[in-house]
Amino acid sequence: MQMITLANGVDIPVVGTGTNTYGKADNQYNGALTNDFSSLKSAIQTGYRLIDTAISYRNEEGVGATIFESGIPREEFFITTKIPSDEAYIGSKKVINQTIQNSLKNLQTDYIDLYLIHHPIEDDEKLKQTWEVLESFVDNGKIKSIGVSNFTIDMLEKVRNFARIQPVVNQIESNPHTWNHELIDYLTSKNIVPEAWGPLSKVTQEQMETLNKIAENYGKNWGQVLLRYQIQRGVVVIPKSHNKEHQTANLELFDFELTKEDQFIIETL
Ligand SMILES: NC(=O)c1ccc[n+]([C@@H]2O[C@H](COP(=O)([O-])OP(=O)(O)OC[C@H]3O[C@@H](n4cnc5c(N)ncnc54)[C@H](OP(=O)(O)O)[C@@H]3O)[C@@H](O)[C@H]2O)c1
Repeated sequence: MQMITLANGVDIPVVGTGTNTYGKADNQYNGALTNDFSSLKSAIQTGYRLIDTAISYRNEEGVGATIFESGIPREEFFITTKIPSDEAYIGSKKVINQTIQNSLKNLQTDYIDLYLIHHPIEDDEKLKQTWEVLESFVDNGKIKSIGVSNFTIDMLEKVRNFARIQPVVNQIESNPHTWNHELIDYLTSKNIVPEAWGPLSKVTQEQMETLNKIAENYGKNWGQVLLRYQIQRGVVVIPKSHNKEHQTANLELFDFELTKEDQFIIETL
């Protein structure tokens, strides 16, 4: 697996798996929990090692158990989770501390590779307080890297101003509907790695046809071309699939390179 070295020297795999519908009825985000983690098991067997979960996905525990039961050494995985912005999780330093301890317990691990603030925290004091607790977990070695998700340039500037330990990742939507080109350029210029959620989502029929036409030249499909476009510009991707064939295809990104012309067509879809 190709890696990107984050600003703090930690390596992150360029492709991981999302998990937001794993362990849920009908593979629905809001579905009841089923404890059926066969899709994650399949992803791990296929070779995924970056696993992206979040407290709000309600599945940290099942994700942790599935990783543990895989028998693969913990250090081969890169586990990401995220703290919600609700009072129940960030109300005070004590509460934030407890939230992170719960993640460690649920994920059955001594350390979490990447802990993100899931959504912007509007209250500046709350934001600072949350960041400071995250920093304290980096200090004690229980979190390796910290970052944010769905943060705009302004919000990131705020964090960068008070942070003792800088954010190394911003996980944001990036797909043909919402590329977020300007934000990605900013992140790259600040040595913050952009990580694309929903990388295969919101693709229109017309866009898919254009992508498939490009893909034919490389013996690939539309999804592989989209994912390759992102990793070729330094964006980490976390596609999620419940289908073994799709999971396999989404990892087969390292035996071709998009030309400048094709990159331009995709960039301006
Ligand atoms: N930070 C945030 O706020 C945030 C928000 C949303 C998501 N996320 C994270 O990002 C992850 C990925 O985003 P996502 O799950 O919303 O969407 P996604 O990965 O863009 O797309 C998932 C959909 O694409 C299909 N798919 C996957 N591979 C395919 C392929 N090779 N060919 C055809 N279809 C394919 C899947 O269906 P099949 O199951 O049939 O393959 C699924 O319906 C999430 O799971 C979550 O971990 C984070």
